[in-house]
Amino acid sequence: MTILILGSGGREHTFAWKIAQSPKCEKLFVAPGNSGTANIAENVNIGVTDFPAIKELVLREQIDMVVVGPEDPLVQGVHDFFLNDEVLKNIPVIGPVKASAELEGSKEFAKEFMIRHEIPTAAYESFNASNVEEGFKFLETLNPPYVLKADGLAAGKGVLILNDLDEAKAELKNMLVDAKFGDASSKVVIEEFLDGIELSCFVLTDGKNYKILPTAKDYKRIGEGDTGLNTGGMGAVSPVPFATEAFLNKIEGQIVKPTVEGLQKDNLPYQGFIFIGLIKVGEDPKVIEYNVRMGDPETEVVLPRLKNDLVDVLVAMANGTLDAIEIEIDERAATTVMTVSGGYPEAYEKGKEITGLNEIEGSIPFHAGAVLKDGKVVTSGGRVLAMTSYGNTYEEALKKSYQNIEKLNFDKMYYRKDIGFDL
Ligand code: AMP
Ligand code: GLY
Repeated sequence: MTILILGSGGREHTFAWKIAQSPKCEKLFVAPGNSGTANIAENVNIGVTDFPAIKELVLREQIDMVVVGPEDPLVQGVHDFFLNDEVLKNIPVIGPVKASAELEGSKEFAKEFMIRHEIPTAAYESFNASNVEEGFKFLETLNPPYVLKADGLAAGKGVLILNDLDEAKAELKNMLVDAKFGDASSKVVIEEFLDGIELSCFVLTDGKNYKILPTAKDYKRIGEGDTGLNTGGMGAVSPVPFATEAFLNKIEGQIVKPTVEGLQKDNLPYQGFIFIGLIKVGEDPKVIEYNVRMGDPETEVVLPRLKNDLVDVLVAMANGTLDAIEIEIDERAATTVMTVSGGYPEAYEKGKEITGLNEIEGSIPFHAGAVLKDGKVVTSGGRVLAMTSYGNTYEEALKKSYQNIEKLNFDKMYYRKDIGFDL
């Protein structure tokens, strides 16, 4: 098969690494890709939402399947674009259609879906510019901290958690009236604060059958001890030690099953990954959010633990035959630690040469914001490279990730030294 992956991060490098191992993949393209995918696939410099350019590439290279990494093209309807095109309609796209991608594209849509299908989540109400005053009143009925969520996609920045009521009211007005997150905050979901420990569950579905991938825990804050600004993710661990079998059974029974059944009941076609952000409150899982893609950097620890040929799994997702697939998981733990550009998640510089890549031993460096330039690997984003390792325990894996990170260098490189600190 000839396969195209859309995206350019650590997640997409990991997908490319895994797909390239399959004897069924004859040719692999990544658009636009990065310096990591350049070594194992052919990068094509087109944007992930440039649908006409994607069509041209798919036809020119006779691509047999498209695997979508990030949410943007899904929420903008890349799958529908294929289905509605006479010459593309039979080419499978891994990732949901636009209507189903609203699970990530609209927080309100996701909340309504969960309420409709009795999936445990935080109590909420949503507001827009015409009823800000009611939003203020709703905030007064809640206990701090206050959770405000922009309804639409805001590049992971649309959630505010505030301790002070006046500040919460001011931010609500900022979001609704002053368009703090542009269109994304023309509607805001205000939610009950859930106190607990977070983890993520990854589900594959063909629309009727589902399989559950290993759990992972990601570290979102920039600073050690989970402090400072939110980022895309600074590291991840799989499996999650506190996710016992009993707890996993609850996740499956109370959340995964009703989610997949809910999609069918609501006539929402879905061939792709569902990433369920969970919080463990007491002994019970509650959903914080749905994403319609894999997580980054969670993918960098989840896919390395999948023993199956990923192409077989993707084909089954596309064909509706996922029930015939037996998911096999590597018993070892996997960890990843993200190196980032100094300043991230605020302003940072790009174009810094990354050295030491040839000295890495016993870990897998997944490139994220890194590209090839004049034969050198240079930084091109905030999150630069995820160092993934296996170990018999997560501590052993982390030790390897850290040993190898010490061999890497680029100007103003930063990483958290405490991934896994809370486990
Ligand atoms: P989200 O984009 O919905 O995943 O939210 C970003 C982060 O905000 C989550 O990873 C949580 O750490 C936090 N968060 C979101 N909703 C809640 C909630 N209801 N209670 C506590 N923390 C939350
Ligand atoms: N690591 C969180 C995400 O991919 O959304």
